[in-house]
Amino acid sequence: MKLNITCIPGDGIGPEIVAEAKKVLNKVAEVYGHEMIFKDVLMGGCSIDAYGVPLTQETIDAAKAADAVLMGSIGGNTSTSPWYKLEPSKRPEAGLLGIRKALGLFANLRPAYLYPQLKEACPLKEEAAARGFDMMIMRELTGGLYFGERYTKEVNGELTATDTLVYKESEIRRIAIKAFEVARKRRKSVISVDKANVLDSSRLWRKVVEEVAKDYPDVKLEHMLVDNCAMQLVRDPAQFDVVLTENMFGDILSDEASMITGSIGMLPSASLNDSSFGLYEPSHGSAPDIAGKNIANPIATVLSAAMMLRYTFNLDKEADSIENAVRKVLEEGYRTTDLMGNAKESEFKKVGCSEMGDLLVERILSL
Ligand code: IPM
Ligand code: MG
Repeated sequence: MKLNITCIPGDGIGPEIVAEAKKVLNKVAEVYGHEMIFKDVLMGGCSIDAYGVPLTQETIDAAKAADAVLMGSIGGNTSTSPWYKLEPSKRPEAGLLGIRKALGLFANLRPAYLYPQLKEACPLKEEAAARGFDMMIMRELTGGLYFGERYTKEVNGELTATDTLVYKESEIRRIAIKAFEVARKRRKSVISVDKANVLDSSRLWRKVVEEVAKDYPDVKLEHMLVDNCAMQLVRDPAQFDVVLTENMFGDILSDEASMITGSIGMLPSASLNDSSFGLYEPSHGSAPDIAGKNIANPIATVLSAAMMLRYTFNLDKEADSIENAVRKVLEEGYRTTDLMGNAKESEFKKVGCSEMGDLLVERILSL
């Protein structure tokens, strides 16, 4: 099979981690007889430097022309980088929000799974870590507060900032349907997270999710308020299967969920529209402080590539081979710096970004 993949390495550690994911994909192609066709384009800070804007039409067109997009990360240090002196719509993040919107990627899947091998790196109490967890955060990605009208103006002599949070029924319905479909293939439970005790958008969210649930009598639905959910995630993460939530809550909760897996460097994501097309990226940011040092963890990006094989290309065996390789390297005691936790250096074999990529490549086998 020919796989046309547009790559957006981006900023910070982005280029390093995407390079490792490409190495792994090329090995998968060799072992399983496929052809990977990669095309690199700019987005984020590097696009601002080259073209003055974080997202160009050329990048959107290249993404649309591909079967899938593999992304690293975008953005820089928000207090020191010159990109953050620009007006908000010209900053790196606007590129990412813009491409999600342009490609209609409303469904963001962020699996948070505690690898048994990483239990020591999990910051939770031992009993919670021992129970393990395996959840899928389904975040609505093209609506809500991040896409509403925003402005700052002087009102009665003082600066006043406004952000608007808008959700339409149709936007809630389509992500809810995806969540129930995903739950059907897992443990058949959806916890829908909102702030219905305060927000109108959350009350509508709840109403629509309940309507959708009627078509899925085999899936159990519960509602949870977002503040409680933030607490339950660190108290008893094993209770979650599919977590369905709106854009900003999902942004925050998925970072929290990733941290309890041992490191934010482990969490992949898929952003999907209604076709098989998808944009795949790690859930973490561009970590400018460690960029270029060859110490970043490429696993979240490599696992995002596995999600791409599974969701866009229907190549389950190939995706399994990547996930198995990740399990194996962890089992064999290899760790990037972020995964060391409080462990002594002698307990594990500490490796850099490119070494981790090589180790994964060596473990891609025909299943
Ligand atoms: C993420 C990121 C982005 C988001 C930023 C960079 C705009 O935090 O993918 O979670 O908030 O969606
Ligand atoms: Mg985020």
